[in-house]
Amino acid sequence: MRAKRPSSKSDVRDWWETSIIDMEPNKISIRGHEIEKLIGTVSFTQMIWLIITGESLNGFRERLLEAALVSAVDHGPQAPSVAAARMAISCGVSINNALASGVNMLGDIHGGAGQQALELYRNIADQMDGDEDLNCAVTDGLNKWTLVNGRFVPGFGHRFHKKQDPRSPRLMELVDQAIINGDISGRFKKIAQTVEMVLAKQKGKPIPMNIDGSTAVIFAELGCTPTIARGLFCLSRSVGILAHSHEQSQQGERNKGPTPPKYLWKYSG
Ligand SMILES: CC(C)(COP(=O)(O)OP(=O)(O)OC[C@H]1O[C@@H](n2cnc3c(N)ncnc32)[C@H](O)[C@@H]1OP(=O)(O)O)[C@@H](O)C(=O)NCCC(=O)NCCS
Repeated sequence: MRAKRPSSKSDVRDWWETSIIDMEPNKISIRGHEIEKLIGTVSFTQMIWLIITGESLNGFRERLLEAALVSAVDHGPQAPSVAAARMAISCGVSINNALASGVNMLGDIHGGAGQQALELYRNIADQMDGDEDLNCAVTDGLNKWTLVNGRFVPGFGHRFHKKQDPRSPRLMELVDQAIINGDISGRFKKIAQTVEMVLAKQKGKPIPMNIDGSTAVIFAELGCTPTIARGLFCLSRSVGILAHSHEQSQQGERNKGPTPPKYLWKYSG
């Protein structure tokens, strides 16, 4: 189908519609706030929340979002996203290309599990009426989830941190402070902890909450959608990817591959 040709000034103006920003010569206003009043008064974390949701974020709620963003910043060159960025910059691309290469590796299995964890928590929350036993709702939610998505429950387990992902207990501590202060309900923390408990029972060993499971608790408590949760993870990890890309560019190696050159792949032809 051919696109309609703009026929008047208003057709052109109406081509893009946004409630995020108003801009005209000598004026920039984001979500109704003049940019010069935001500069120097809001933190970057508050700005992220304001531009995405149109709302302001303060006190413990701001602290929680900031903690989630800090916690996911890096997991080293073993993480495919970081390795990809480091390889990319060694090939002579610019820093923005290296950043994009890293961010493009963040998918359902690496870096994106928080989106699925949040979906799982919300499914469980939606199914619960006031009286339903949390354990039953979680068991039911997990059964439904694994039936559709396979046996791995998003947000739990870790390839390296088998006993405990060091980031999770600290994040849950901050969640507790926000609950005590009355800034969040704690509903999603309870759901996540019950998932952890039921999973451990089902598997006969602990499968601890990981970074994606715990940041999903924070994002859910703050009212984020699953898609925004993934976007926020990408923002956070971009910072680590930038640091790694820059460091790699300073190391002078050229055309760095995924393994030292003396190792070759297994030929199966
Ligand atoms: C991260 C992950 C890939 C690590 O997997 P792994 O190193 O193979 O896990 P382990 O060796 O510790 O454990 C394997 C066993 O634990 C179980 N297990 C591990 N994580 C599990 C999970 N999230 N849900 C259900 N079972 C899990 C496996 O089923 C397997 O059990 P089995 O031997 O009976 O088949 C895995 O835990 C996972 O896919 N988690 C969900 C996705 C996720 O949250 N990713 C973000 C990680 S930060």
